Amino acid sequence: MPSWIQILNRIIAVTSLVLQDSLLVSGKPSTTRDDSANKQERNLKKNARYEVWGSDQSNSVAGVSTPGTKGSFIWIWNSTQIDRQLAGDGDAVPMTCTRTKANGPCDLLEAFPEGLVDSVTGLTLGALPGFGRLHGVIQDPYGKYVAASVFVPGGGYVGIIDTNTKQAIALFRVTGFTFEGQTTSARSVHMCIWSDDGKALLVDNLDGKAIERIDVTRNKQNVITDLKFNKAATIGLGRNMAVADEASVFSGPNAFGVNLIGSVVGSYSSAGLDNLTPNGVCKENGCGTAPNGAAGGRPNNLPICPIASKNGLVYVTLAGGGLFILNSSTTPMRIVGEYGNRVVYGAGCGGVQKNNQVFLNAGVAASAAGATQSMFAVVSFDDRQYSVSRPQNTPMPVRVFQDAGNTKTGGNIDGAITVDESGQLPGVSTRRDSHGMAIAGNYLHVADRIQNVIETFHVNTYERSTYDVVSITGQAGRTGAASKCFQRSLLDDENLILNDPAPDLFETTPDGKYLMIAFRGPVPVSVAHAGQGSCPGVGIVQLTEGGKSGKLLDILRSTNTVDTSSVSALPGGVVYAGKERSDVHGAIVVAK
Ligand SMILES: *[C@@H]1O[C@H](CO)[C@@H](O)[C@H](O)[C@H]1NC(C)=O
Ligand SMILES: *[C@@H]1O[C@H](CO)[C@@H](O)[C@H](O)[C@H]1NC(C)=O
Repeated sequence: MPSWIQILNRIIAVTSLVLQDSLLVSGKPSTTRDDSANKQERNLKKNARYEVWGSDQSNSVAGVSTPGTKGSFIWIWNSTQIDRQLAGDGDAVPMTCTRTKANGPCDLLEAFPEGLVDSVTGLTLGALPGFGRLHGVIQDPYGKYVAASVFVPGGGYVGIIDTNTKQAIALFRVTGFTFEGQTTSARSVHMCIWSDDGKALLVDNLDGKAIERIDVTRNKQNVITDLKFNKAATIGLGRNMAVADEASVFSGPNAFGVNLIGSVVGSYSSAGLDNLTPNGVCKENGCGTAPNGAAGGRPNNLPICPIASKNGLVYVTLAGGGLFILNSSTTPMRIVGEYGNRVVYGAGCGGVQKNNQVFLNAGVAASAAGATQSMFAVVSFDDRQYSVSRPQNTPMPVRVFQDAGNTKTGGNIDGAITVDESGQLPGVSTRRDSHGMAIAGNYLHVADRIQNVIETFHVNTYERSTYDVVSITGQAGRTGAASKCFQRSLLDDENLILNDPAPDLFETTPDGKYLMIAFRGPVPVSVAHAGQGSCPGVGIVQLTEGGKSGKLLDILRSTNTVDTSSVSALPGGVVYAGKERSDVHGAIVVAK
């Protein structure tokens, strides 16, 4: 049962949306950022050309024993090739990112050559640890560049690639921090997002518990002419943080012989690394004599995903739950909204905006603790509410959806159960894990990596409906005629459960026809207790009913048998004995 506060919130939200809509109808179209900034809609075109970029976390070299620790592949398919495949004319051919190979996939180790030199250590990239596990590439507001988040813990690299030339233009390494009681330097890059105006790249330093910023200079054609990693902008989110390894930039030629650009500027600010929020409570619980935040506070502030909003804010989801909303243009970046984990549950990463609503979700923890968690929850924030720093948990978000089977984890005290031991096998597992999100028309689509379904919600009424990616119709579940994932599942281990797409991050195509959804592999590098899939690649979901529903049409299948890493325990899944290592975690659609 929702509480009366939730019902009241819901009424207020729906009323304000109705008001907004009627304002739009009655008034002349406004020219504010709000209207201009939904890029996917602004670029909505019939017969648009685009490229799909899939981020494959597996190793791009042989002889590495641990999955997802050295190199990665970027799978780039253009719409010419995709249309060909959909017409039954053979598989789309991936594009190259070097001068030496005619076709892709693009090897991260080739795009960023090992001879690049690090400004702090003087060592070459090839001599430094942790350049691997491409967790995602995220495009800038113009589709001209992507930021590549290279996620191996201890690595901490973020690269920038030109989407036209497929050339690397810059590479940075984020700050290594120590914390209270932890003297080894920690850093990693989980997911970097560009600010809505394209003037900043917001860097998610997960193991360093910080959000950092690269300031972007562009010419009139929005071509990047300079990139400055601004140490003065860094905001720490952990306890008693200290800088152990300063951020650095790499120099030298890319795969085409063109020198990388970029520099590191500014000095770390003690205000940015302070333990307290502007409301005088601990950023992370247990920070000393100051009280923890209200409504559960924030027990573990590994930042999961920064979601940039149209108003220049960044919504930072946290591993242990709770949320920070930052003004990303102040230096250091400043907290203007803060929430406890009873309000925003842990491990959310999906984040999308429609008009003034910022939708965020929560999922199962990536750590071992997540193996018995079940979490599917979606909340909506009003992006206009943070022009001044707000008191704690103010205003409250609207709870759009909360699954009845959610466990009492990640801050959720309303759950029916404490643990869900059902593992992750399709047809057996009762667990849920909401992760990727995208907007199609007036519908929010939210993927469940374990149940192989996409839940949709009308963005104004929150009316919910569900389709699956395992049947031809999207409505028949596992009992109906199987989707393409079944035909394209791996057959080299009889124990692997077939027709298990494990849908992860995704985007909508600019013509509004399809969703392009990352499908995980049999050896999932991250969130292994929820991510196992049998048909790795990018799923092409055709949108139906005006964007309310969909069905899986085909798969841009990726493969990697170069990687010879060994498979250890796979909690709740199958310890796969075959040769496939491809594991696509993110898919984006770049309009051309
Ligand atoms: C699409 O990709 C194929 C395969 O890499 C390539 O041969 C072709 O030139 C590309 N077409 C466009 C329009 O980019
Ligand atoms: C963020 O801070 C800048 C600089 O202080 C200010 O101009 C801007 O209005 C702030 N943004 C929001 C959404 O409050």
